[in-house]
Amino acid sequence: MRKKIVAGNWKMNTLPSEGMTLAKDVIAKSGQVNHDVELVVIPPFTHLSEIVKLASGTRVSVGAQNCAQWKSGAYTGEVSASMLQSLGVEYVILGHSERREYFGETNAELLEKIKIALDCKLKPIFCCGEKLNEREAGEHFQVVQQQVEESLFPLDDSSISNIVIAYEPVWAIGTGKTATAEQAQEMHAFIRNLLANKYGEATAETISILYGGSCKPSNAGEIFSKPDVDGGLIGGASLVADDFIAIAKSF
Ligand code: 13P
Repeated sequence: MRKKIVAGNWKMNTLPSEGMTLAKDVIAKSGQVNHDVELVVIPPFTHLSEIVKLASGTRVSVGAQNCAQWKSGAYTGEVSASMLQSLGVEYVILGHSERREYFGETNAELLEKIKIALDCKLKPIFCCGEKLNEREAGEHFQVVQQQVEESLFPLDDSSISNIVIAYEPVWAIGTGKTATAEQAQEMHAFIRNLLANKYGEATAETISILYGGSCKPSNAGEIFSKPDVDGGLIGGASLVADDFIAIAKSF
């Protein structure tokens, strides 16, 4: 019932020519992955136009890593949701922990980005997750609940259905440390329960919740086997087509 999604967040990696090679490789190997798994590549802005053209007519979708919270105007250096829409981009990551940490993105600002992305028919991949000190203090549920409540709960029922959520424990991002499959399941079930309380069980059951944080071919199978884990948002391993495809084949 829920869409299974494996998305590769390339972050600030690859030159455009390298990105094209990587995208071509992912497309060429995408036939190895079960057809009920949606594959998404999420390159830097500079690559999007070419990669959207390359992926058109294939089973690989394309996403962006961010968008502005304003429609247009004097915001030097920003990229609007409508610009992404006009290129044919389908998804947009919003609220990645690196954006929260290095660019000071707040839950309130993310709500604005989500609304504008939805207006432009983009599908937001909303990231949430706790830092190491928050987990160690036992505050991880509270932190994630606040992120979800402040950035998603102002949305109405029809809007929430177009959101994908990624749980990315910050302590597991780029560290090689992965949440155990049980820790991932526990948090995914917690998030789904929050959604069920707010939007009803039927709606909560349709929302894909991806796991992100050092997901690799060696651990993806166990994590994806959990009932509330609907796929992954993959960082480092998505830069190697074979690894990305191997992760997607883990379902
Ligand atoms: P890594 O897979 O490199 O840990 O990154 C995860 C991530 O941040 C995906 O958005």
